Amino acid sequence: MKYQVVRNEKYDFAGQYYSAVYPNLHKYPATMLPQIGIEILKELNISTGKLLDPYCGSGSSFASGLECGITEMFGFDINPLAILISKAKYTKISIKKITEVKTQLRHQIFEFIKDEENFKKLILPKITNINFWFSQEVLQNLNVIKYFLDQIEDEKIKRFFRVPFSETVRECSYTRNNEFKLYKMKSEAILNFNPDVFGVYFKKVNDAIAIYENFYYPKLNNIKIDIQYSKFEPSKNTFDVVLTSPPYGDSRTTVAYGQFSTLSNEWAGIDYARKIDGMLMGGVKSKELFLEGIIADYITEINQENHKRALEVSSFYEDLGNSIDRIAQSINKGGKSIYVVGNRTVKKIQLPTDQFIAERFEKNGCKHLVTYERALSSKAMPSKNSPSNKTGNTLNTMLYEYIIISEKNC
Ligand SMILES: C[S@@+](CC[C@H](N)C(=O)[O-])C[C@H]1O[C@@H](n2cnc3c(N)ncnc32)[C@H](O)[C@@H]1O
Repeated sequence: MKYQVVRNEKYDFAGQYYSAVYPNLHKYPATMLPQIGIEILKELNISTGKLLDPYCGSGSSFASGLECGITEMFGFDINPLAILISKAKYTKISIKKITEVKTQLRHQIFEFIKDEENFKKLILPKITNINFWFSQEVLQNLNVIKYFLDQIEDEKIKRFFRVPFSETVRECSYTRNNEFKLYKMKSEAILNFNPDVFGVYFKKVNDAIAIYENFYYPKLNNIKIDIQYSKFEPSKNTFDVVLTSPPYGDSRTTVAYGQFSTLSNEWAGIDYARKIDGMLMGGVKSKELFLEGIIADYITEINQENHKRALEVSSFYEDLGNSIDRIAQSINKGGKSIYVVGNRTVKKIQLPTDQFIAERFEKNGCKHLVTYERALSSKAMPSKNSPSNKTGNTLNTMLYEYIIISEKNC
């Protein structure tokens, strides 16, 4: 191992959940524990300057930044659902206004549904295989909520109310709720599935208001959090700290952010919702193997077993490497980069993504300071070291996460 990895139990946060610090407004896959960011920022004495999260997802790095006193933060993501959630969490809007809109919405909806004829006036949105995922009654009722949400004039307020709507879409569809991928419930479960769409929605609205009011709103005074639906590209803006948890691998074979978000995104009018996984990091298969630096031996070994897999893995590291080049050039001298990742396994070969990240930052003038290893759960861990200690360590799959810290020195 070229770049030092230190097992640091402090960062295990055993038994702790996201909600212990900042409850999320909406489920999101592979969220980073804000506690990690808070402890690392404290350890590095970072409480000022500009923070960047180029893969911000639902925005946990901003929660860490806020807790540590950082007032200027910038986020990027190319999943519209991620942007919806993180903008709703970190945009300051009046609680009074939210409550008024809730009352108005409730009134409008209940007046509307009194007359069955009204339902016929509404046009259903374009959802792929719509009847496969929703019952007729659920569809009608979701569509009523959507109709009134679309009429909210204030974009920030509209966005806020779309967050519980998105969760309601998920919960009232035939998707299995405990899966990130889109799987339909078993037919026996469907027979007994008759959700009260309006009840679910307004309960979620109430929960969202309570979370926003207690955990986010009070922290948003004199704070700038600029979140963009875009890939990160260097600009005049430069940063003092990068705090991020990038994907561990391509979306199709690791965490399917796009698939998780498909129904929500389609209800929001995103017509390319089903293409998102292919647009994310590593989504387009490479034409040739990526054989640079530390990762080369591993890709060569995968290639001996399966050329197609080796090309897919190549595409991920090519994208990750290129994005590190762009990010590193946007860090101010003395600034820090903090990446939180897992080392995934492909064809029984554990890929040293932590080492790849440290190496690529070094190539870009960022000295590797340390990598902490944290256990992902309190379960008993298998032995960490491969008996042969060579490429192809098959143990220890994703039981640990790595926090890679580098410092820009030029
Ligand atoms: C591990 S998740 C981040 C989770 C986030 N820290 C949170 O707590 O919610 C990785 C994110 O990277 C995004 N992503 C993947 N490829 C991207 C790219 N090329 N540009 C911007 N975002 C990307 C995904 O949409 C996903 O939201």
